[in-house]
Amino acid sequence: MTRSTNSGQFEVAPDGVDPRLIPQRTLYTGATMPAIGFGTFGSDHVSPAEMAEAVRGALEVGYRHFDCAAVYGNEAEIGQVFEEAFRRGLRREELWVTSKLWNDKHGEEDVIPACLQSIRDLRVGYLDLYLIHWPFPNAHPPGCDVHSRAPNARPYIHENYMKTWRQLEKLVRMGVVRHIGTSNMTIPKLRLLLRDAEIKPAANEMELHPHFQQPELFRFVCANGILPIGYCPIGSPHRPERDRTPEDTVDIEDPVIVRIAERLGVHPAVVCVKWAVQRGQVPIPMSTKRSHYLANLRGVVSEPLTEEEMQAIAAIDRNCRLIKGQVFLWKEDQSWEDLWDVNGEITPP
Ligand SMILES: NC(=O)c1ccc[n+]([C@@H]2O[C@H](COP(=O)([O-])OP(=O)(O)OC[C@H]3O[C@@H](n4cnc5c(N)ncnc54)[C@H](OP(=O)(O)O)[C@@H]3O)[C@@H](O)[C@H]2O)c1
Repeated sequence: MTRSTNSGQFEVAPDGVDPRLIPQRTLYTGATMPAIGFGTFGSDHVSPAEMAEAVRGALEVGYRHFDCAAVYGNEAEIGQVFEEAFRRGLRREELWVTSKLWNDKHGEEDVIPACLQSIRDLRVGYLDLYLIHWPFPNAHPPGCDVHSRAPNARPYIHENYMKTWRQLEKLVRMGVVRHIGTSNMTIPKLRLLLRDAEIKPAANEMELHPHFQQPELFRFVCANGILPIGYCPIGSPHRPERDRTPEDTVDIEDPVIVRIAERLGVHPAVVCVKWAVQRGQVPIPMSTKRSHYLANLRGVVSEPLTEEEMQAIAAIDRNCRLIKGQVFLWKEDQSWEDLWDVNGEITPP
């Protein structure tokens, strides 16, 4: 049971984790972010009401960092949960809330209204972090299949991306967003952004799990003062059908992960989360089950993995990208690799 005390403090459940014990990461601005967040993408099968319920439970067990996005279609429901928590004594500054600009709102006149809508829906007054969700203005309908393409799909055009970025910079100057950042970027795209940005990206959200460690991009963002936020930290076992291919590997079945989980007496998912935090990225695992999301949070405040275990996990990278992004391609007969600049240069139009 959680309850408000007379002093109006929002209390953590007795079996939860004191948020003060959760490790923090420092951004280049000096602000700190909890080193684990709670993902809120329902993968097309968790309803907005169920996700809001999970967020309520996550707040009660001690999560203070939430990864949201307009396209997840649940910000209004999650916002009601935040509002209720504020009424029960949670202070806004105790929370870290991220949201993201969807691909159909890259137009200069669309960015600020889209962000203000997310802030209104989430009922948070301001965002701690606002990301451009994908570097392509190519949207797809919710729940679509892998062959779906936006009618006006376009490649990455840096000039256009910078127009969108300038609007994000305005949001910082307006005081409604504390930090801005990127998601699903590559090194060549980030190089251009770092060259041209007036306000540097503070974080880059990227797919990161034991079978997809992206060492080069990870090192690049860290070296440039950009915090890596790792999505699908458990290997997204319940991801949508469109994000599955026969070649995909399963992190939580890897013998190295399973062996460590057995030693610790935890689910392999918890090992993935512990590894992520110890490596230095900020994982944002999602779960709808209290025992699961509590175990993930406890994992980051309990006995660390040994140096040998960290090295053993470093050695199981399979370069297995799960979220390949086919629906964001801009031409027929393209391969999903074209989205990821695998040759080190931005894929030509
Ligand atoms: N920026 C981007 O483009 C982008 C892309 C994808 C995702 N994301 C963000 O990253 C978040 C996480 O990604 P994800 O949800 O796809 O994958 P994930 O966090 O790797 O995996 C989530 C799945 O793992 C299961 N799980 C979690 N903890 C568990 C535990 N302790 N034991 C057993 N099972 C456990 C959950 O099932 P149960 O509900 O049964 O526990 C859930 O279905 C998303 O929610 C979203 O916020 C961002």
